[in-house]
Amino acid sequence: MEDRYGHRISYLRVSITDRCNERCNYCMPRELQEWLPRDEILSYEETLRLIRIAADLGVTKVRVTGGEPLTRRNVVDFVREIPKIPGIASLGISTNGTLLTREIAPGQTMAAALRSAGVQSINVSLDTLDQHLYAQITGRDFHAQVLEGIEAAIQAGFDQIKLNTVLMRGRNDDQLVPLTEFAGSRNLILRFIEMMPVSTTEVLSDENFLPIADAKRTIEKRFGDLIPEPSFRTNGPATYYQIPGREQRIGFIGAMTNLHFCESCNKLRLTCDGKLRPCLGSYLEFDIMKPLRAGASDDELRRFFIGVVDRKPEQHDFRNNYQPDRKMIAIGG
Ligand code: GTP
Ligand code: 5AD
Ligand code: SF4
Repeated sequence: MEDRYGHRISYLRVSITDRCNERCNYCMPRELQEWLPRDEILSYEETLRLIRIAADLGVTKVRVTGGEPLTRRNVVDFVREIPKIPGIASLGISTNGTLLTREIAPGQTMAAALRSAGVQSINVSLDTLDQHLYAQITGRDFHAQVLEGIEAAIQAGFDQIKLNTVLMRGRNDDQLVPLTEFAGSRNLILRFIEMMPVSTTEVLSDENFLPIADAKRTIEKRFGDLIPEPSFRTNGPATYYQIPGREQRIGFIGAMTNLHFCESCNKLRLTCDGKLRPCLGSYLEFDIMKPLRAGASDDELRRFFIGVVDRKPEQHDFRNNYQPDRKMIAIGG
């Protein structure tokens, strides 16, 4: 599938739940949320059918997201089916890391179960190494659990483990060097992410926005000039650098300040309530659950996908006073 601007769609992000066991302030609005009722969430069978359709149309990479995807029941049984779909070559999951140590079979952690179900890459959110600050940011005291979860992921032997740090001026600026050391000591790829206005706009103010250029400067002051690695790419939009004199890579995701950010966009999003979203930073979304539940044929669903890709914008609207109408948690980042 290719859109009007030459973006080739090979990557589907699949959100399987709007629920989360944390309350990160850049992700969730402060007011208490009603979770979606169960019958408004795509079943695993429905979701797998849509992934199959997407694979028919050229999608090769799938990333499972949430909410927190590991809060949904039987998630391991679901992800096990994804690599069996012809055409799907890469499977990842993005998680807050809190449930990775949960024992889901005797002697088997969630992390190990995901690995043996065929998940190749796991991205874990970690904004700070400070337990107190972690609780402030996430609204929950799960820091120790997440650190253990990361160790469980290392034990499980994923092909790739990445840590995601959302940049917050005045909150975690002094954490960037310690997080880099932490990632380096464990051979993990750390990425710094610019905050995007995907939940309530008040979270993203000039005072707390920290651009990736500032983060890069902080890292270079401590470790020396970073060496660009344009040929190293993961499935998503990060750009990567090597830390001089070390076997360590770090990444930057600068959706707000990088004016070329969307040029290499390769994705579509499927929300847990069955909407196809052609772009994270756009109001456009198309309800594919409706035709799916009304008995549409595979061919009709394929045409639906193609129609959505056809309406994919050239770039996001985040810089144009974008007011999110849906919280990040229901889109899955
Ligand atoms: P990999 O490169 O395969 O690891 O995928 P990824 O970086 O896309 O996955 P992840 O779920 O870890 O996302 C990291 C951050 O990038 C999150 O903050 C996402 O919201 C953001 N992100 C991922 N894709 C896009 C995108 O297309 N547009 C924007 N604006 N942000 C994105
Ligand atoms: N801006 C940027 N990244 C965000 N994430 C959640 N909310 C935001 C936001 N407002 C990130 C999480 C997680 C990833 C899937 O999305 O930190 O690592
Ligand atoms: Fe693609 Fe939209 Fe993300 Fe830009 S913001 S990279 S167009 S999904």
